[in-house]
Amino acid sequence: MANWETAFVKIIREICREDGISLTSFDDWAFCLRKGETHNFIYGYQFGLDNAAVAAILRDKAAASEMMTAAKLAHVPHWCVMSPAHPEFCSLDSGWEFIEKIFSDYKDLVVKDNQGTGGRLVFRVRTRQELEQACHEIFSTASSLAVSPYIPIEKEYRVIVLDKKIKLAFSKIRPHVTGDGIHTVRELLGEQIARATDSQLKGLFSQGCLPEFLSGGQRADTVLSQGQELVLEWKHNLGQGAAAELVTEQDIMQDLRNIASRAVELFGLRFASVDVIKTSEGYKILEINSGVMMENLARTDHRCYQLAKEIYRNAIHSMLGMTGK
Ligand SMILES: Nc1ncnc2c1ncn2[C@@H]1O[C@H](COP(=O)(O)OP(=O)(O)O)[C@@H](O)[C@H]1O
Ligand SMILES: [Mg+2]
Repeated sequence: MANWETAFVKIIREICREDGISLTSFDDWAFCLRKGETHNFIYGYQFGLDNAAVAAILRDKAAASEMMTAAKLAHVPHWCVMSPAHPEFCSLDSGWEFIEKIFSDYKDLVVKDNQGTGGRLVFRVRTRQELEQACHEIFSTASSLAVSPYIPIEKEYRVIVLDKKIKLAFSKIRPHVTGDGIHTVRELLGEQIARATDSQLKGLFSQGCLPEFLSGGQRADTVLSQGQELVLEWKHNLGQGAAAELVTEQDIMQDLRNIASRAVELFGLRFASVDVIKTSEGYKILEINSGVMMENLARTDHRCYQLAKEIYRNAIHSMLGMTGK
């Protein structure tokens, strides 16, 4: 999607128009916002609220993970491995030997671009061949990768925090088909494709989620029992077919608040999104971003659009010193 087509850019333009803020856009990716004597910037989804060092640490999945380990904050561990193209940064025990050791310890890993986003270059590997292939692909463009044990995820959430308040949380529902005891997976999929909007289709076919499902040993002629869900994609990325669903249950909100506020405190964050997973061992932080992306939420319906817009409005007011005026 081009920058100017995103709900995000539309929202920023609307807020500035409504609140008398002058906005200069640079390719709808970098923005300068000015109100009276004060000015500040937005770059991508990054607002001028958090300091550059914190933003850089959070972008580096392994660095953020090490800090969470030191703070005893429940999270998915990420270990950094530098590309062999940069031997000057590698110690002997931190390269391929290290990956092999982790692989023989866990047998099921996730390897990803250490500074990646949007689920690109994120691979689940269960064999040595998959491991080698994934590392090769990541290192063809990235200078470091992060390796983690694969952790079965019951639910994945995004928690949006601004100035110490949890503004909202949504869960990420992966693309799936639900059985009715009559139709085959092939028929259910056909029906889903026939009903899908263009953007749902894009998500469904991005990154090859259908082959992932078939390689899981499932057959397209299987008849799922009534209510049985078959997930088509193992990743929860909103840009790869997952849908955003607001969390309304107060007990879940409280659990998310407990873990997200520890992350906010540790990194001193002002505006951030905290991705939290629910596992059999409880809640864990998967990643934290100081860029706040609510694109898919805003596209869900009018109410969600307004909710996302109000949070972005609060963030803009906060960065231009307009709060309480
Ligand atoms: N260690 C892991 N175990 C299980 N699933 C994972 C693991 N790491 C990532 N995932 C899945 O892959 C998705 C993308 O990974 P993430 O670390 O969030 O990368 P990105 O920053 O590209 O979104 C996550 O939303 C999650 O569903
Ligand atoms: Mg992610």
